[in-house]
Amino acid sequence: ATPTPTPEKAAEQKVELKLVNPGKLTVGSDVAYPPFEYTNQTTGEYEGFDIDLAKELAKRLGLELEVVNTAWDGIIPGLLAHKYDVIISAMTITEERAKQVSFSDPYFEAKQVILAKKGSGIKGVEDLAGKKVGVQLGTTGDFAAQKLIENGIEFELIKYEDTPSALMAIEKGDIDAAIIDNFVAYLAQKNNPDVFEVIEDKTFEPEYYGIAVNKDNPALLEAINKALKEMKEDGTYDKIYKKWFGE
Ligand code: ARG
Repeated sequence: ATPTPTPEKAAEQKVELKLVNPGKLTVGSDVAYPPFEYTNQTTGEYEGFDIDLAKELAKRLGLELEVVNTAWDGIIPGLLAHKYDVIISAMTITEERAKQVSFSDPYFEAKQVILAKKGSGIKGVEDLAGKKVGVQLGTTGDFAAQKLIENGIEFELIKYEDTPSALMAIEKGDIDAAIIDNFVAYLAQKNNPDVFEVIEDKTFEPEYYGIAVNKDNPALLEAINKALKEMKEDGTYDKIYKKWFGE
């Protein structure tokens, strides 16, 4: 069994960690990405897999949680400018990003899929040729779309500031499809089966989400990795996973 940290230990840790706001874990997130982070329209509260993970992390670090809703485009600059301590925003660990920030151990496996308008006839990436394809600007979906174009599949790429705008554009018929993270696409399809259709394609490779931390804060990174590891070992991670994704 994992020893539960004593209040003294939590207090010790609080003092050690370099934080934007003392006593708080301040998290930057683009809170428009269900089921990972979104606003509950009834309560106004932030919810999602990442939010539960963030709550659990803060608890284990002996800190209060504060989530700062941040536009995706600018989320890394905001971290570098110390507007928050970490990014938890379904962010895929990439080599490019890792030049700017440190990533925690991976906490989630994902991949890109095509989210098409139902009845579009799109069956795989080749069928995107000649179509209008949306992505959220600066996401791995954006990068995957650019790669498809470089590989000779010609389509019009339209970039949106946030993912809900891309989904709305599909619904309205402004675009034919989007390239986005699988679990976000599957939830959209589940909520709106008459509008959306998810298409997988094996050209899309596995991606891993990580928590981004400033490179000048290795102590925080270490504390986060330790907490993540303990959450995986004691079943808390599985509990959160099952809550949002089932078995
Ligand atoms: N996983 C993708 C990426 O890292 C998309 C993440 C978008 N997250 C969000 N909260 N909008 O690029």
